[in-house]
Amino acid sequence: MKIFCTGASGYIGGSVAAYLAAIGHRVTGLVRSQDKAAAVSRLGITPLMGTLDDVAILAQAAQAADVVVNAASADHKGAVVALLDALAGSGKPFIHTSGSSIVGTRARGERSDAIFDEDTPITPSPARAARVALNEFILAYRDKGCRSVIVCPSLIYGAGRGANPNSVQVPLLIRLAKKRGNAAHAGPGENIWSNVHIDDLVTLYALAIEKAPAGSFYFAENGENSMREACEAINRMLGFAGPPTAMSMAEAAAEWSEGTTEDTMASNSRVRAKRARQLGWQPSARSLIEEIEQGCYRE
Ligand SMILES: NC(=O)c1ccc[n+]([C@@H]2O[C@H](COP(=O)([O-])OP(=O)(O)OC[C@H]3O[C@@H](n4cnc5c(N)ncnc54)[C@H](OP(=O)(O)O)[C@@H]3O)[C@@H](O)[C@H]2O)c1
Repeated sequence: MKIFCTGASGYIGGSVAAYLAAIGHRVTGLVRSQDKAAAVSRLGITPLMGTLDDVAILAQAAQAADVVVNAASADHKGAVVALLDALAGSGKPFIHTSGSSIVGTRARGERSDAIFDEDTPITPSPARAARVALNEFILAYRDKGCRSVIVCPSLIYGAGRGANPNSVQVPLLIRLAKKRGNAAHAGPGENIWSNVHIDDLVTLYALAIEKAPAGSFYFAENGENSMREACEAINRMLGFAGPPTAMSMAEAAAEWSEGTTEDTMASNSRVRAKRARQLGWQPSARSLIEEIEQGCYRE
């Protein structure tokens, strides 16, 4: 099939695009610089120069494709409108990437017991209200002749296949651990994130392209860990003795910014990928703790 992928030079989009190209699809990837064009070409992806604001380029690329994967941004409404309007009436799949911080609770490093599957009602934080509204907007295209589908990953780990091999949270924790000579979490670090290996995530995109019904939404996770567990594994990986440090929220915000600290590093985001498993998804890659201790994060 002909697949158009935004975010083709990024962690998620690059991994998905490279995987789809490797299994025999013809993939065109949106890029915004010549060096990223060269990088995606090396992975068998045909580069298309443009940005998420170039609505005419997006619409033309969507119409020329059999499938669109939108992995550049969970939040860019202009691009979503351009792509969906181009696909309306075609019945083609549109696979959008959201993120499980939509169920996140700001918790200053404390644990929350709230767990969400796709049927659990969500009351998003003000920081994620627009993302949840965008998801609803996308799913409504099920009634406009478009097979709109959302994949909503939790914390992603593992080496990406694309030009950007690095995700967000684990590399942030490792960089800080190396700087301090000890891993560190925000507050007590008892806050929990569900997580998914990038190698498993790409197979969910392929499955969604193949058979997800119009208007479906899929969390992606295959386990969960507290930030303290991740930090303990990082200390073992780096050979640092003793327990990780509990930073104050102000200290953490000085390292990671306030928004990243509150919504990503000190929050909870506990989801269950019930519908993806019902679709036939079988995640099998190693766990977050194994990946930190024995996998791609070791030097
Ligand atoms: N990583 C995670 O753990 C995770 C989990 C859940 C959800 N998400 C969400 O998924 C989305 C992608 O995440 P990611 O980790 O793959 O990010 P990433 O590695 O930074 O990749 C983003 C990609 O989108 C491209 N891009 C961004 N803005 C663009 C624009 N205005 N025009 C054209 N291209 C643009 C980037 O191009 P350049 O290479 O030129 O910068 C890059 O290829 C984000 O919205 C993120 O919040 C991420």
